[in-house]
Amino acid sequence: MNKYNLTKKAALITGSSGLLGVEHTLALLELGATVVMTDVNEKSLVAAYNSLLNTDNEDRLFCKVMNVTSKGNIQDVANELQKDGINIDILINNAAIDPKVQVDSVVETSRLENFSVDDWDFQLKVGLTGAMLCSQVFGSDMAKRGEGVILNIASDLSVFAPDQRLYKKDGLQPDQQPVKPVTYSVIKHGLIGLTKYLATYWADRGVRCNALSPGGVFNGQGDEFVQKLTQLIPMNRMASKDEYRGAVQFLCSDASAYMNGQNIVIDGGRSII
Ligand SMILES: NC(=O)c1ccc[n+]([C@@H]2O[C@H](COP(=O)([O-])OP(=O)(O)OC[C@H]3O[C@@H](n4cnc5c(N)ncnc54)[C@H](O)[C@@H]3O)[C@@H](O)[C@H]2O)c1
Repeated sequence: MNKYNLTKKAALITGSSGLLGVEHTLALLELGATVVMTDVNEKSLVAAYNSLLNTDNEDRLFCKVMNVTSKGNIQDVANELQKDGINIDILINNAAIDPKVQVDSVVETSRLENFSVDDWDFQLKVGLTGAMLCSQVFGSDMAKRGEGVILNIASDLSVFAPDQRLYKKDGLQPDQQPVKPVTYSVIKHGLIGLTKYLATYWADRGVRCNALSPGGVFNGQGDEFVQKLTQLIPMNRMASKDEYRGAVQFLCSDASAYMNGQNIVIDGGRSII
């Protein structure tokens, strides 16, 4: 189990006060890492940080407000951490916007025909540009020090298209049916491109980069949606939020020392049928 030991490593997680960000934090804390939780939402960040803080981790759990769309903000956080003697060895690009389906508006804004350039720009800026900027700042420093790991959190929608039947609402005309927006697919496929690019870019400087593509996590979604989705999954269920911890531990530690540029899809088997 030595290869999983992260006691001398420091990790930074973006979007870490969300559903999975907290799980990634717990996964790395369990292996002894110092963890810097970051998020643009200060209130949820502080709440998540306080909920995880205990006597076992109080000297190695930190939180910083950080907006992944601002290179200046990311650089400021990197500088502050360095001043405190913390060099980031592991970066998890996890922040994303998952726009909620709205069914009460006359114009269904999620549909491609109506999708606004503002929404496109904003969502790409967080999910894709943000990952590039964080990799630029923290990855460059890892390369200078000759060691590091970048993990991009993609989605099963990095390998297949959304099944829009999942989002269909009874009684709505076809042009009013909500859909998973185009941005989600573009961002998640784009993250795999970024993963491969970074994996070769710094391969000779000791920095590895991989992606993790989770399937849908059960988080109180409605019965109809869950039933439709689980029919598409051989294991016949959605994931629990803690079921990606093992993969995060593997991908962020020396247990995966020879893995580089890969996309690990964990989806109950949905993508193989
Ligand atoms: N939950 C799932 O079922 C699921 C499935 C597949 C993939 N994913 C992916 O996992 C990741 C985490 O998902 P989640 O369910 O925890 O999402 P979430 O919405 O719960 O958390 C996302 C976090 O990102 C933060 N964020 C948004 N904009 C930001 C910005 N500009 N800078 C910094 N932080 C910002 C939010 O404040 C939030 O805390 C995402 O990349 C998501 O696409 C989730």
